[in-house]
Amino acid sequence: MATPQNTFGFVVVSNRLPVDRVEHGGDGQWQRSPGGLVTALEPVMQANDGAWVGWPGIADREFEPFENDGAWLVPVPLSEDEVADYYEGFSNDTLWPLYHDVIAQPSYHREWWEAYVRVNQRFADAAAKVADEKALVWVQDYQLQLVPAMLREQRPDLTIGFFNHIPFPAYGIYSQLPWRKQIVAGLLGADVIGFQRAADAGNFARAVRRLFGYSAKGTHLEVPETRPDGSTEMRHVVARHFPISIDVAGYEELARTAEVQARAAEIRRELGDPAIIMLGVDRLDYTKGIGHRMKAFGELLADGRLDVESSMLVQVASPSRERVETYKTLRDEIELTVGRINGDYGHIGHQAINYLHQSYPRDEMVALFLAADVMLVTALRDGMNLVAKEYVASRIDEGGVLVLSEFAGAADELKSALLINPHDIEGLKDAMMTAVSMTKKERQTRMRSLRKRVREHDVEFWSASFLDVLRKASPAGAPDVADPGDA
Ligand code: G6P
Repeated sequence: MATPQNTFGFVVVSNRLPVDRVEHGGDGQWQRSPGGLVTALEPVMQANDGAWVGWPGIADREFEPFENDGAWLVPVPLSEDEVADYYEGFSNDTLWPLYHDVIAQPSYHREWWEAYVRVNQRFADAAAKVADEKALVWVQDYQLQLVPAMLREQRPDLTIGFFNHIPFPAYGIYSQLPWRKQIVAGLLGADVIGFQRAADAGNFARAVRRLFGYSAKGTHLEVPETRPDGSTEMRHVVARHFPISIDVAGYEELARTAEVQARAAEIRRELGDPAIIMLGVDRLDYTKGIGHRMKAFGELLADGRLDVESSMLVQVASPSRERVETYKTLRDEIELTVGRINGDYGHIGHQAINYLHQSYPRDEMVALFLAADVMLVTALRDGMNLVAKEYVASRIDEGGVLVLSEFAGAADELKSALLINPHDIEGLKDAMMTAVSMTKKERQTRMRSLRKRVREHDVEFWSASFLDVLRKASPAGAPDVADPGDA
């Protein structure tokens, strides 16, 4: 286990630490952070005596580094203003909507950009401080796109990887960004830049060509770099896709426990034993298409194709980015829709939609997955969507049907799902009905093939493939970093 040594051969840098500091009154505790990133990186960290550099999720507080679950955590402080300008502002009200194909209008503010630069520099400085000579540093996600170049500037000895967990948009959209050149230059500081889909890597390579004119052949980019003596040499950068995944064995193990199976049966009973339970599980985010799936479900009730006595939609929408205006508006819209549909179609004792604005522990989620006949993933744009993979991993009984948006990265891999375009409400309704009436045999055949895919491509496979390419990219020969499978 990591000891309070000064430097580390493997360093992860992400906006959030794997735990958030939560304080009520005088009491403080560390709680697991939201989102798929932590889930994906936890096994890699546990296999390496690594350090994890990130924000503790609370403003205006400084914490000393500490040990947590096999990793040495290095908290980076943010002031209240920086949370507003760098995190809620530039990261989640500029980059997030822009990178998700402007589903919501991005806001461009120069003060937000300045805060983004300042905070990225702070993360880069913190990582530079804890990285051993020739260490391998893996920077995560859109909040920290300037960190690779900032790190290289200070520490040319390091091997630097970057992984973008969200989509990278087509140049026609990306080019709106007033700081488009600075962001691409920041990313090009890495040796390997990972994306979820091949299309994202292609969009990035096109942005590099258009903005800088550098050569980009397939997944290989040539980036000119000035040496201390003034001469120029070409540095090789790899930009390709590495679809992220989940701890499949962990989900299967939970799904096999008697407790979780009993809880799944109990959930069905508590919901009044409807014949059909449809399920949505998302962070409450406008990219997830929650309104689209509710509209489709409401229309199926209105058309009489589904009956409220025997069908129900359970929607878990975990609270997210609640101080950002677009998210506040979305919450109001979704809750209005739930109220309308329940008011129009519910009966006493029969709610059409069971809406839960809460987060649940993993075992409760697996029980819900096991209880649900149809899983609805209707994202309008999504880097990957790990919930789709979690559902598949949990269905050890080879039951259940996955309805999956083609705009989620997962659609590239989960081809045996019922693939839908969430904007096409009629098509979505038809797919929901196909799911409901599918024969047991077809359900099994599809689920078996989905399960094969996720079992062969779990999160270990993801991190091992990325780290393997990163190690090979290192001219200096980076120190050996264990894949989680080696542990
Ligand atoms: C997505 C992003 C992550 C982020 C997570 C939760 O999965 O890719 O970087 O951590 O959402 O969002 P939050 O803003 O709460 O960190």
